[in-house]
Formats: sequence, structure tokens, C-alpha cells
Amino acid sequence: MEAAATRSSQETIAQFDKYVIPNYGRYPISLVRGEGSYVWDAEGNRYLDLFPGWGCNILGHCPAPVVEAVQKQVANLVHIPNSWYIEAQGDFAEAICTRSFGKAFFCNSGAEANEGALKLARLHGMKENRYRVITFERGFHGRTLATTAATAQPKYHEGLGPLVAGFDYAPYGDLAAVEELVGDETAAIMIEPVQGEGGVQIPPDGYLEGLRRIADDNGCLLIFDEVQTCMGRTGSWFGYQQFNVKPDVLTMAKGIAAGVACGAVITTNELAPDLRPGMHASTFGGNPIAMAAGCATVKMIEDEGLLDNVADMSARLRSHFEELKSELSIIEEIRTCGMMIGVELSIPSTPAVGKCMQKGVLINATQGTVIRLLPALNVTADQVDEGCAVIAEVIREMAADAGD
Ligand SMILES: Cc1ncc(COP(=O)(O)O)c(C=O)c1O
Repeated sequence: MEAAATRSSQETIAQFDKYVIPNYGRYPISLVRGEGSYVWDAEGNRYLDLFPGWGCNILGHCPAPVVEAVQKQVANLVHIPNSWYIEAQGDFAEAICTRSFGKAFFCNSGAEANEGALKLARLHGMKENRYRVITFERGFHGRTLATTAATAQPKYHEGLGPLVAGFDYAPYGDLAAVEELVGDETAAIMIEPVQGEGGVQIPPDGYLEGLRRIADDNGCLLIFDEVQTCMGRTGSWFGYQQFNVKPDVLTMAKGIAAGVACGAVITTNELAPDLRPGMHASTFGGNPIAMAAGCATVKMIEDEGLLDNVADMSARLRSHFEELKSELSIIEEIRTCGMMIGVELSIPSTPAVGKCMQKGVLINATQGTVIRLLPALNVTADQVDEGCAVIAEVIREMAADAGD
């Protein structure tokens, strides 16, 4: 298939250098087309994408049912503000709430969803003067000022002070530390059921149940940031269902609409009225295009039995990496939850990204030593085998350089 480029990667890079604020580290490649788990650059090179859209392209690139739904919607209504009703928003709210609970509020991103959840927690807590929120080391909740403050990683705070007040940071995995921090002013405990950017950290047995109990005992809310773990990513519709612990509030974004910008807050019927008219809103939130894409995403996951594929492909990925671990001592730990894969190395993982890219495979590195994959829910066994063979080759090279 021919690439849809109108200019070379170098020409696009030159244009960015002139007109785009340089706040991102970008790979020196312009991507022009995608299909499933493959993308093509302007020069016609094909890449196997095991980190499509940083988790947003949950069905790979340009899934046909979502493309068709967006095309159909865009020809009817592009944007309608929330001062009117639209069918697509009702349909998508029904689709996600019947697979979880309660009622939904729509926005456009993960940070915006978390802002909504934090405002809901404060609005709910204000009757008892509760406004503080406990979050966790290595967590990641977004880049707005409040969600940056919620993110307990000092590297994201540098130069932004004074931070939004009211956040207390707990070490991850330590229930006693949360018991110490929780108090009369605590409005909520907020956590990712599986930490993503933090290196695919799986909660220890009983940990999320323990947080649920602490929240209940102390009269505060439990918020799950499911921006990364929603929409089948973990093998169930939502991450909380893997651990059988129901939050009071959950937030979604990333894969929610298969790559179309969208976010959501879901909360219980009892709490929903706390986000009362006039206190929170989003102009583009719940727009017809995102809602149509979201409905098509849910339908495709269901129609194609993709939650089962997640379980199968997760096991396949894990066994590839376990085999490699038995060969190489630089692999310290393999952490998987559905289509969230973390491979912890004893050496820096970042060089693996460029080396894999040169060999035609796109991956991510996080927290300095973790190789991270967020493959599409519909990744195939052949693609898993192809990708793991390349990653193994690269890790073997890195091990040899490190003297392993
Ligand atoms: C768990 C989690 N929460 C929030 C965010 C922020 O989402 P967004 O970049 O859409 O604002 C991210 C993004 O990586 C995330 O992984």
C-alpha cells in the first residue's frame, strides 16, 4: 500500500522547527498512514506498532467500523453543544455505564477527566470540609495544574510552583502509609488500578480492596484513574473488574473512542448530582464525532470478541518474554495485565526504543529501566511473534554490550 505523504520527513521536521513549540521530544520520522498494528512513514517504511497512539489507538490504526461511524456522523452533525440532547451521547453513555455503573460526564482527555473527578470529590466533600486527595508515588494523572499536582513525581513539578494545594502522596503498595495520611479533610483516594507510565505496576494482592476499606472507614471517595486501563485494555471492560473492587468514581480517556479525542468521568447515581449544573462543563465534551466513535469502538470490541483476544495475546507476549528472561539476566521482572506489558531491565531501557524503531518495531520505554508495550486489542499472534523476535534481538544486543 502506498504511503499518503505529500512531503518527506525532513521537510515536515523543518516546518515543525519553524512553527511548532518544541515541548516534545519527537522521533525524526513523519508518519503518514496506518492500518491495524502497522504504520507507514513518509518514505514508505512500514513499522509494527506495539504502542499505537500511546494506548489511544486501542483497535490499531484506522479500524474500519470506527472510520465508517465517524464518516457517517460527520456528514450529519459535526458539533452540538451540551445545551441540547444528541442521540450519540445518550447511546455512548448507555454503552459504557451498562458495562460499569452509574452515569457519565464527557470531556476530551485524561487530564480533563481527572479534573472533573477531583472537582466532584471536592464538591461532594465540601459539606464536611473535605478537600484533600491522597495519590501515589509513580502515579500519573495528567498535565493540567491540578493533575500535575496529583501526579506524585517531582520531575513533573519542577518550575511549576506553587502547586495546586491539597494533595498527599503515599508510597505505592503500602496500606499502613495510607492509613497514616487519611484524615478528616480527606475527600478522596485516587489511584490507577494498574500504574501505566509508572512502569506497569500491578497492585499487590488485597491492595485495592484495602484502599476501598480505608475510604469506606474514613468517609472519603475512592477514585480510579482508568485513563489507560479502560475499554478492554486489561482484558475486562474496566481495570477495576480485574480486581473486583468498585470505585465511587472512575475516569476514562485514551482508548475510549479508538483514537478520537474523548474522555469521561463515571460515577454512581448517588454522587452524580454533586456535579451540579453550572459547576462543571466542557464545550467539546460529548461531541457527536467522539460519541459515534466511542459507540463503534464498544461494538467492535464486542463483535470481534476482542476481550478474549487480549487474554490470549497477553499470555503469548508473556511467554515470549519469560523465555527471554530465562536466557538473559538483565531482565529483572515481567509485569503484564492484558495488553499492558512492562519488562523491567537492570540497565537503561530507553536505547531499546531507537534500536527497535530501526528494525521496524515501535515500542516505549518508561521510568528509566522499563520497556513498555500497549498493543492494540486486535493484535494478531503473528504480529506478537514478529514484534517479540525483534525486541528479543535488541535486548540480546543490549545485554551483550552490558557484558551479560
Ligand atoms: C493514567 C493516566 N491518567 C491521565 C493521563 C493524562 O491523559 P491526557 O494526556 O489525555 O490528558 C494519562 C496519560 O498518559 C494516563 O496514563
